Amino acid sequence: VPTIEVAALSDAQVEQVCNVLPLERLAQGDGGYLDAWLDGAPVVHVYVARTTPPELQDVFVLEPHRRKGIASTLLEAAEADCCRASCTEVCVSVSVEGVVAKTLYESRGYRDTGIAPRRVLGTVQLRSGPFAVDDTLLTLVKPLPDGTDT
Ligand SMILES: CC(C)(COP(=O)(O)OP(=O)(O)OC[C@H]1O[C@@H](n2cnc3c(N)ncnc32)[C@H](O)[C@@H]1OP(=O)(O)O)[C@@H](O)C(=O)NCCC(=O)NCCS
Repeated sequence: VPTIEVAALSDAQVEQVCNVLPLERLAQGDGGYLDAWLDGAPVVHVYVARTTPPELQDVFVLEPHRRKGIASTLLEAAEADCCRASCTEVCVSVSVEGVVAKTLYESRGYRDTGIAPRRVLGTVQLRSGPFAVDDTLLTLVKPLPDGTDT
């Protein structure tokens, strides 16, 4: 089993990481990226927005490394960080059409708690440039254990 190291993305690592991973939310300003590294190379990132509750965004695994549990490992670390920050839950928005993402999050205990789906229509500014969106997003929520237990 390869050793995966998870760490918050530092300013010094941005150049190396943005050569291989999208870092679409880099300039968003309300949180930060957590990356997992395999043999010294970044293979996946997640942006954790420090909202209430915190929201996981831009989960992206390099294609050759998919389906090996790498996203799950990183999400576990992100959830543990939120727990240590005394958050009682964490959420994620997924497209109603995003079957893979929905399966991934449901396998990790994220649930549709009845928050109304949001229609998103317009242009969002990502690192790669303006991105036209016409989607309906579901919010999935995962309760976190009491941070003092972990
Ligand atoms: C979605 C994504 C992050 C999954 O990463 P990953 O490292 O391959 O995920 P894991 O190996 O941890 O998978 C965990 C579980 O998610 C589900 N899953 C992951 N990829 C799947 C796929 N292609 N088809 C069906 N289920 C899938 C499975 O239940 C899987 O468990 P299993 O392998 O034991 O069956 C990755 O495919 C990706 O980066 N896709 C492009 C970006 C994206 O869609 N991001 C999510 C939107 S925020």
